Amino acid sequence: MTSNQRLLDWVREMAEMCRPDRIHWCDGSEEEYNRLCEEMVQAGTFIRLNPEKRPNSYLCRSHPDDVARVEDRTFICSKRREDAGPTNNWKDPEEMKAILKRLFTGCMQGRTMYVIPFSMGPLGSDIAHIGVELTDSPYVVVNMRIMTRMGKAVLDVLGDKGEFVPCLHSVGAPLAPGQKDVPWPCDPNNKYIVHFPEERTIWSYGSGYGGNALLGKKCFALRIASVMARDQGWLAEHMLIMGLESPEGEKTYVAAAFPSACGKTNLAMPIPPEPMKGWKVWCVGDDIAWIKPGEDGRLYAINPEAGFFGVAPGTSLRSNKNAMLSLTKNCIFTNVALTPDGDVWWEGMTEEEPEELIDWTGRPWKPGCGRPAAHPNARFTAPIQQCPVFDPAWDDPKGVPISAFIFGGRRAHNVPLVFESFNWSHGVYIAATMGSETTAAAAGAIGKVRRDPFAMLPFAGYHMGDYFAHWQAMGGKIKEHPRFFHVNWFRKDENGKYMWPGFSDNLRIIKWIIDRCHGRVGALQTPLGWMPKPEDIDLSGMTEPYTTEMLAKVLEINNEEWLAEAMGHGEFFAKLYHRLPKEMVYERELLISRLTAR
Ligand code: OXD
Ligand code: MN
Repeated sequence: MTSNQRLLDWVREMAEMCRPDRIHWCDGSEEEYNRLCEEMVQAGTFIRLNPEKRPNSYLCRSHPDDVARVEDRTFICSKRREDAGPTNNWKDPEEMKAILKRLFTGCMQGRTMYVIPFSMGPLGSDIAHIGVELTDSPYVVVNMRIMTRMGKAVLDVLGDKGEFVPCLHSVGAPLAPGQKDVPWPCDPNNKYIVHFPEERTIWSYGSGYGGNALLGKKCFALRIASVMARDQGWLAEHMLIMGLESPEGEKTYVAAAFPSACGKTNLAMPIPPEPMKGWKVWCVGDDIAWIKPGEDGRLYAINPEAGFFGVAPGTSLRSNKNAMLSLTKNCIFTNVALTPDGDVWWEGMTEEEPEELIDWTGRPWKPGCGRPAAHPNARFTAPIQQCPVFDPAWDDPKGVPISAFIFGGRRAHNVPLVFESFNWSHGVYIAATMGSETTAAAAGAIGKVRRDPFAMLPFAGYHMGDYFAHWQAMGGKIKEHPRFFHVNWFRKDENGKYMWPGFSDNLRIIKWIIDRCHGRVGALQTPLGWMPKPEDIDLSGMTEPYTTEMLAKVLEINNEEWLAEAMGHGEFFAKLYHRLPKEMVYERELLISRLTAR
């Protein structure tokens, strides 16, 4: 087991409160994984998929009310309310502990408490950190084995004195003696996903699903880690990490942040388009990046995770072939549909819908029945090594050097296909003001923009104004600065048609970004930043016929509309005013000056 006294004391204390029937220390072995999966098959939680279609894979159906992260039940309990900031839910930590202690007392009765030691990042990397999750959910254990480096090896690295982030989780459904369990226990009335940033601890109660329960992911790797990163001078970000290798063997890495549901997993592993034959894509991560200054003054990134926990609906051989190929075996599927021959299906997987299915709630389903077959937030859990373009550098303790940060949202209007910031401070401004448009009720109308700075709105563990200041300060800690870019794959014309085909054609834009990083290509100066000359983007062999004029249109800037946009930035900043770094105010003024210059 372990001789780490702090860990032993904490496990004992939590077990005294939660009162599980037994405690199991997870070793992370395949044998343990298979045993737990088999137990869940017996309990009706898992359905083993047809081994000929999907070897060593399972379908799991959650409780219909426990299907997604619950942002309104997520709290940052810093000592002072203002340290959590206006974009997070807050409660006094003492008060919250009292509520949670009441809920956690006896909450694991009749169940096993699993102790899961896990490392976020390569074992022993100085960018990595260790966590220990206590949970009464075997579903969490098997998912954590895919999503993190987990088990005995982690305890060895932790040693006697090592630091870890304590993560306590319960589904909140104790069993009375003799009471029969249900396939997906949870507490339908009480859910609390709580972070104590000063203590660096996480307490999560009542949900067994995704980011509410796999505490290494959003809770630790983003909310708690963002606080650690601020204090220690690094960055914990909601970013994919992707490498692009030229035919000459030059490898360039970018890190990209997009709000949820903007195709991050697609950009993490795209297939190069026609004119980029000979280029290779390397996937390091699809969701989270931990980034630290290296000794050479560059920024280095690791993916703290070891798997993909991706949204299944919409994933297909057309939209993301490499993701589909990552899912052929050793996966857990949650809330997708079951085919008659024991395989999985979800909306968008194939052009034609199967004639019959069992839907995610376990009911028979036919096309046109008026219900989705898979839940829109249905997920796959897949080991990252199964990705055909998996980058072995994923396990490099040093991380990979980052040459560009890319930001983007879903913007039907105003926002051009790509632009580059003038400098670091302007780049932070661009990322701080990014967002997605909520759908407009009327065709042609502009939807309301939900600002999602750095795609971190639900994930920053402290005041968003301080977070911007931390990014600004990081610019002063490095010698070689990655460039900042903003992209928008989702601009629409007056008829509501997408102006850029997206998917693998996006790599043409990433190639321009990489050429910029290496100083190989010029750019046009515009009020928003540097933009490509249309002739610098290779449009040969596009998925649909595409002209330089069409490209010029998707790159267009309307100064009037951008002035309105800058007003929107101001409204958002007003909420953060007390902690907003001055650079943000000045950058906004500069943007307005450039837009109104004669
Ligand atoms: C995710 C998210 O699940 O961002 O990755 O919501
Ligand atoms: Mn995410």
